[in-house]
Amino acid sequence: MKFIKCKDYDEMSIRAAEVLEAVVKEKPDCVLGLATGSTPVGMYSRLIEDCKAGKIDFSKCTSVNLDEYVGLGEKDDQSYRYFMNTNLFDHINIDKAKTFVPNGLESNADKACSDYEAILEKTGPQDIQVLGLGENGHIAFNEPETYFPKLTHRVDLTESTIEANARFFENQDKVPRHAYSMGIGSIFRAKKILLLASGAKKAKALKEALNGPIDPKLPASILQLHPDVVVVCDEAAMQ
Ligand code: F6R
Repeated sequence: MKFIKCKDYDEMSIRAAEVLEAVVKEKPDCVLGLATGSTPVGMYSRLIEDCKAGKIDFSKCTSVNLDEYVGLGEKDDQSYRYFMNTNLFDHINIDKAKTFVPNGLESNADKACSDYEAILEKTGPQDIQVLGLGENGHIAFNEPETYFPKLTHRVDLTESTIEANARFFENQDKVPRHAYSMGIGSIFRAKKILLLASGAKKAKALKEALNGPIDPKLPASILQLHPDVVVVCDEAAMQ
């Protein structure tokens, strides 16, 4: 596990973009595993800037996202597909037909999950998988549990995640209660993992995940077993 400790959020975003861009430069047709949430937004801005400046080319890349809310589709401005389009895909030269997010509008959970696993199988392993960290230690929407879910599955979001995500919605009641999420096995196919953490709210989960026992009650702790993890975090998250 490699640590890149940064002064603040802006530096974290720049350093994280460097790690991701290095993968794209080495393998222009790579598979990017992407995440939503507040943490990677600064990194995505940097990728947009660099792409517009001609420093990086995403035209041959494929992307797969970690998760999507059940019931929300592309046109819904709270969906993760909408988030990815507006925060990244609309502004870089990636072929949108090669960007994948679980289908939140598929109400048959088994079908939604097996369809997404089939897509992951077809794209092949992520060359790099970006992860944010939940305050409760979740990665993607793998919430604290008694086991590590293996493949894409339907998740009941915990109250703490619903509360944390309520900031993006009109009110807490509007936050969807379920999501489709890659499992730990789907994430672990990635050749490299880029874990981002910013702010004091993440400090406890980050410390326990990286130093404590491997325990599904703190899903990110499983990352200790992955052979190539780069943690890019700011000082506040490292306390
Ligand atoms: C997002 C995701 C989540 C977030 C996590 C942190 O696709 O899978 O695990 O990475 O909830 O969210 P932020 O970055 O908003 O603190």
